[in-house]
Amino acid sequence: MSSLVVAIDGPAAAGKGTIAKELARTLDLAYLDTGSLYRAVAHAVILAGGDPASDEAAAHAAKTLDIEAIDQTAIRTREVGSAASLVAAKPQVRAELLETQRRIAKHPPAGKAGVVMDGRDIGTVVCPDADVKLYVTASDDARAHRRWLELSQADPDLTEKQVLADLTERDRRDSERATSPLVQAEDATLLDTTNLSIEAAIQAALDIVGRR
Ligand code: DC
Repeated sequence: MSSLVVAIDGPAAAGKGTIAKELARTLDLAYLDTGSLYRAVAHAVILAGGDPASDEAAAHAAKTLDIEAIDQTAIRTREVGSAASLVAAKPQVRAELLETQRRIAKHPPAGKAGVVMDGRDIGTVVCPDADVKLYVTASDDARAHRRWLELSQADPDLTEKQVLADLTERDRRDSERATSPLVQAEDATLLDTTNLSIEAAIQAALDIVGRR
């Protein structure tokens, strides 16, 4: 029996992760945050003293990535987020991580019947045959506000304006890159969370999955 795949794509801080985690919990599926893989590659380059803009350094980090050993706290910083969008533009990095993501989609961990994956190119490139595809978005201001709430706990001097500038730059890189750019799949259902509470966004996502 093939595994059930729910693909959730969209720009940074649109609510993908929150929705994906809750869908996975409710549907008893595995969850894979594919952005964490790109972040982990960027983090490994930084830790090794390398330059995330270097093809060689990024490709080496992707090749040697141990997904079991990702430090989920260390990869959530602004610096790593920015560097992640640089390494994510590199074809060698994407090719390396593509295999990993497809393997997990085919054989979800912990004997689960399927997986909810969130990222930028899940419905378009990684799993074009996904059973359900959602494209989750929100206005720039709403996304910047949410990401600022998260990041300002560790960095109280951070302003919403800085976060908005970071997000705009990352979205531009993610959407304009040649390999697997961020784009809504033709058969994805659009979910705009700008004016939705977390609960309402999760319910809307569950309704979309239920209709499939
Ligand atoms: O979702 P995030 O902010 O954790 O993602 C980090 C970076 O990785 C972001 O710049 C986009 C990139 N990414 C990607 O290119 N493809 C994916 N499937 C997931 C993330």
